[in-house]
Amino acid sequence: SNTKSIFPKNFLWGGSTAANQLEGAYLEDGRGLSVADALPGGKDRFKIVASPDFNFELDESKYVYPNHKGIDHYHRYKEDIALFAKMGFKVYRLSIAWSRIFPNGDETTPNEAGLAFYDNIFDECLKYGIEPVVTISHYEMPLHLAKEYGGWGNRKLVDFYERYAKVVLERYHTKVKYWMTFNEINSALHFPVMSQGLVMKTGAGSKQTIYQGLHHQFLASSKAVKIAHDLNPDLEVGCMIIYATTYAYDSNPINHLKALEYNQAFNFYCADVQAKGEYPHYAKRIWKEENVTLDIHDGDLELLKAYPVDYVGFSYYMSTVVTTDEDVMAKSEGNLLSGVSNPFLEASEWGWQIDPLGLRLALNELYGRYQKPLFIVENGLGAKDVLDENNFVEDDYRIDYLRSHIEAMGEAIGDGVDLMGYTPWGCIDLVSASTGEMSKRYGFIYVDLDDNIEGSGDRYEKKSFNWYKKVIETNGSDL
Ligand code: BG6
Repeated sequence: SNTKSIFPKNFLWGGSTAANQLEGAYLEDGRGLSVADALPGGKDRFKIVASPDFNFELDESKYVYPNHKGIDHYHRYKEDIALFAKMGFKVYRLSIAWSRIFPNGDETTPNEAGLAFYDNIFDECLKYGIEPVVTISHYEMPLHLAKEYGGWGNRKLVDFYERYAKVVLERYHTKVKYWMTFNEINSALHFPVMSQGLVMKTGAGSKQTIYQGLHHQFLASSKAVKIAHDLNPDLEVGCMIIYATTYAYDSNPINHLKALEYNQAFNFYCADVQAKGEYPHYAKRIWKEENVTLDIHDGDLELLKAYPVDYVGFSYYMSTVVTTDEDVMAKSEGNLLSGVSNPFLEASEWGWQIDPLGLRLALNELYGRYQKPLFIVENGLGAKDVLDENNFVEDDYRIDYLRSHIEAMGEAIGDGVDLMGYTPWGCIDLVSASTGEMSKRYGFIYVDLDDNIEGSGDRYEKKSFNWYKKVIETNGSDL
């Protein structure tokens, strides 16, 4: 189409994945176990890991562990990256598995085989002109750090992360320009197990531990920004938050206050620190209400101030609704982020409320607040695709979802928002983070595996594959 695009000329179209959800090969070439390897598959995943007895021990007589095999990207990455290239990806967001580089997390020397693997991945991308976008830590800290040190609750993690970040930044800075320090850092408040390596016994139920853990992560993030900019000031390091546009249940002012507080505590708390370099005005109130006393050392606040992030990355899947009415809140179901269901919106099969207009609101909120470039690094629809007799999936529902969100991005750019790029989640089917299912699929590429990771593992292009290819080709003008 010849329509003039509203998207900037160098807009970063691509797709997004995370090591623990697609690589598999969980013990190969010296890799150590990660927190994700201890998460059982199935809809009860979060319930199981939140129980008081859960202690990261694997029990293969009882559970399947789909992350162990993933989609075997470790061996099939060439085929997968070729498919991304065929769609015309400008960028590919992936994460480095920390436990491939430091199998236990507390070693002083990195594992060369792990480092070599990511050299291969990056070289393969660059061969096609695809720029890698790298998340340093995406729900996959070495399990040893969770078990022996208590995850991010322990300040020692700052040093371990710094060592790891230094190794990967020094190794890859000529191949990778765009980085993110932590995936969905604010998810600690909802899923401390994946996010901070905490179980109930080590503080998953304690706001004190979670907020202290976040303080450690903020320090670690600033250290990574420093290392990156010392290597090359042109490197761009972002934060990455999970953002859910939040509505008040009705026009009762008390519910607007509730929405404000939800926004502060969940949507903004982390990015405020990481993007502005200081704790926000409302932090003291939150700490007081949650009985949190932060242990802040001399020099900590100066470090945060000196090394904020360059851009704000975020995931956007759904919006949520909040009210002070406990009964209404209690009756709500399905929404991952514990809110009331919205009568104006439809939801995915997993109860995630589909809200493209909410994305336009999010982009305006975040840009107005930070005045830094934004990067939508995750978005998409998890659905139960069915492969037909021609090995094809007619995923019009996914095309509709993505189209409406891309339209909302265009509107936000028209509003004046500086948006760098868009990397929809799970561009190839992979293991779900919240449920460990394969059948919750997001991809443009179907992977023939079931929830037990049984099947041929073959890859097939879905209908959305060619649709997205055209979107990229026309720089978002032909949707
Ligand atoms: C984000 C995570 O929460 O959403 C991803 O960064 C995750 O790791 C994605 O996979 C989708 O969630 P789910 O639970 O459907 O896989």
